[in-house]
Amino acid sequence: MSYFFSPTAMFSSKLRLLGVTAAILFLCMDLHAQVNVQHAAKVRPYNAQLASPDVERRVDALLHRMTLDEKLGQLVQYNDVGYTAPSATVEEKANLAANPEAAYRLDPMQLAATGKLGSMLNVVGASKTNAFQKAAVEKSRLHIPILFGADVIHGFRTIYPVPLGLAASFDPSLVERVSHVSAQEATTAGVRWFYSPMVDISRDARWGRTTEGAGEDPYLGSAIARAYIHGYQSDDLSRPDSVAASVKHFAAYGAAEAGREYNTTDMSESRLRDIYLPPYKAAVDAGAATMMSAFNALNGVPATANPYLMQTILRAQWGFNGFVVSDYTAVMELTHHGVALTPAIATEKALEAGVDVDMMSHYYDAELPGLIRSGKVSMRVVDEAVRRVLRVKIALGLFEHPYPEGSEVTSAVAEHRPLVREAAEESFVLLQNAVGKSGTPVLPLMKPAKVALIGPLADDSAEMQGAWGGANRAPDVVTLKDALEMRAKETGTTLLYAKGTDILTQSDAGFAEAESIAKGADVVVMALGESSSMSGEAGSRANLDLPGNQQQLLERVAATGKPIVLLIFSGRPLVLTWAAQHVAAIMEVWFPGTEAGNALVHVLYGDVSPSGKLPMSFPRSVGQEPLYYNQFPTGRPANNADLNLPPGPDTRFISRYIDVANDALFPFGYGLSYTQFTYSDVKVSHETLPLTEARRQRAEKLVTVTATVKNTGTRAATEVVQCYVRNVGASLEQPIRALKGFKRVTLRPGESKSVSFDLGFDELSFFNNESQRLVEATHYTAWVGGSSTATESAGFSIQ
Ligand code: BGC
Repeated sequence: MSYFFSPTAMFSSKLRLLGVTAAILFLCMDLHAQVNVQHAAKVRPYNAQLASPDVERRVDALLHRMTLDEKLGQLVQYNDVGYTAPSATVEEKANLAANPEAAYRLDPMQLAATGKLGSMLNVVGASKTNAFQKAAVEKSRLHIPILFGADVIHGFRTIYPVPLGLAASFDPSLVERVSHVSAQEATTAGVRWFYSPMVDISRDARWGRTTEGAGEDPYLGSAIARAYIHGYQSDDLSRPDSVAASVKHFAAYGAAEAGREYNTTDMSESRLRDIYLPPYKAAVDAGAATMMSAFNALNGVPATANPYLMQTILRAQWGFNGFVVSDYTAVMELTHHGVALTPAIATEKALEAGVDVDMMSHYYDAELPGLIRSGKVSMRVVDEAVRRVLRVKIALGLFEHPYPEGSEVTSAVAEHRPLVREAAEESFVLLQNAVGKSGTPVLPLMKPAKVALIGPLADDSAEMQGAWGGANRAPDVVTLKDALEMRAKETGTTLLYAKGTDILTQSDAGFAEAESIAKGADVVVMALGESSSMSGEAGSRANLDLPGNQQQLLERVAATGKPIVLLIFSGRPLVLTWAAQHVAAIMEVWFPGTEAGNALVHVLYGDVSPSGKLPMSFPRSVGQEPLYYNQFPTGRPANNADLNLPPGPDTRFISRYIDVANDALFPFGYGLSYTQFTYSDVKVSHETLPLTEARRQRAEKLVTVTATVKNTGTRAATEVVQCYVRNVGASLEQPIRALKGFKRVTLRPGESKSVSFDLGFDELSFFNNESQRLVEATHYTAWVGGSSTATESAGFSIQ
């Protein structure tokens, strides 16, 4: 059925074709070489841009003149192939089956020319978008431009790490810079609207879309969400290289039960408000122009028909004045959820709940005329939805500049490579680095070492870009093998290579060769992991191990006794328990993008020290999922440290598994460096704080937590210093730890720095189940350290 059709595959394959034909016309984009982003500006003027009196006047003038057909046109989306109207009669459908050509009976070009086409999905490339735009702007009665939207998730042509990897950098300014670059590239192809960022909190590594978000933590997720909005929308939406963001998937899509894609979600109000909503809220506060409603149901109400989410929270409480688009066919899926018996009811429910634009269900244009005629839906509701869409088009400056400016970017841009390489280097998380026979850690690699490179991901240019790779071109990618070969040539050393196995196969035909080159080398680098399609949409897994027979290959190579550096390519946490016991060094490298190989070689050889930290907990066993560090306490904690008590007797009747430890193999916030950092002197500015003062909403600085961090190793490196708090004595249980601040700090060997974190109302308050945000007279412990298991702490109370 059409709604199972993969929009991503369609987007990428179309663009590949386009890339091939357009390659001849390629002109290098000096124009886009400069990354010019203003950082850290807290308030950007988008809200004013979206709903200024001038914009409203322009919208009113248009609305006044629009026919119903023209209005509905603004509320629907088409791709470039047209579709069969769902309202087609049985006879019509029978005819279409006999004559598939006629299936495209609603020709999008024709719709554009008659003002009945508001936006297009994954139609990319200047020649294509210009053709539709010309029809809309020059032929239609009111000349309303089309908005072209696409899934540009981690780069358009020059690809940076998948969002989960990018989040491991704990570096919002980097996120802002790379996302701005993808806007610069995609706008040259006519795209002014990204279905990104995905800000869904994901606590379950089985869920495939973990790869598209910033992981399990709301504080980190909010910082990253803000950065994407600033990067995409820059400081002015009307700039020709700005795009409107679509924040997705509203809401709580990442809480899909059992990590199974599209599954239902059910949670308390306090969990929704404290854990799942903050990144969407941060994006709205940062000025996100559009939102996408989610596929899942929340507490029994599908998100796409959920007025509590879209009217009460998003619009009334958060003041969002952009528009909401449904996810792909999500309006139609209301019938599958069983809350709408007919397309008409699905349409009415979605529109009334606050979905302004129907993505690909084609229900709005088919059903709304009848619903309006019968009085079931009022023109007021339709007008309001059209108003929101027009606002965004006006704010984008589309009426003045409907066509892309400058030459189209048709392959990875040379000037953008250093930035995406930096992003990849910052995304790698060094999980383990044992001391080898030489008495030093295995990484960084010694320059004269003879290296054996083994594994299916070592030389696969398509795979190492990850899911949702925009309009990438595999030949633009520097693979790990390419880059290691280059380094071997420069240093006059030997690189041996064997693929060993495929990502997903049971054949061990390549094992013997892998084993033999390992025996002849000083050190073995293994590039193992998932294929890019094993994560992303519809990429849920019930197992989190290395796919195919990669584990067996790893064991065969490990049996040679050679030191192994294991590089894990994946879009999610995997279970690395065996590897952690048998392999010297392990680095999580996610899917690094266009500059994968160069970034990896820089870090492997120590040109750059790794600084990434895990944005999700890595479990010991899949049975621990969902696993996250900011758990609630229990009455029988397995770890007395959770209660700040001395270790207790080891009894059976505590909250734990009998066959695996509770904690993560590699916890949230964790990541090693080539140097070591120590923490000391954690202090708080106030040991007590009056309750009245602490309740001051919007107070940004109530208590300051300070600590000293020192580089005690021999290399200059960057550490992500993290601050966690626990709040006890509140009317509602609070997490045993919650991240409330982080800073990247670069230190020379022997250097120390004092790092401080201001805790204000946002950091000290929490939501109860009546949606009230509270600060109570309670006690807080604050930890500062290099991961969520930091040990240095200080306390303060609110009295
Ligand atoms: C995905 C969205 C995506 C949309 C358009 C859906 O299947 O869930 O994230 O933006 O397709 O391609």
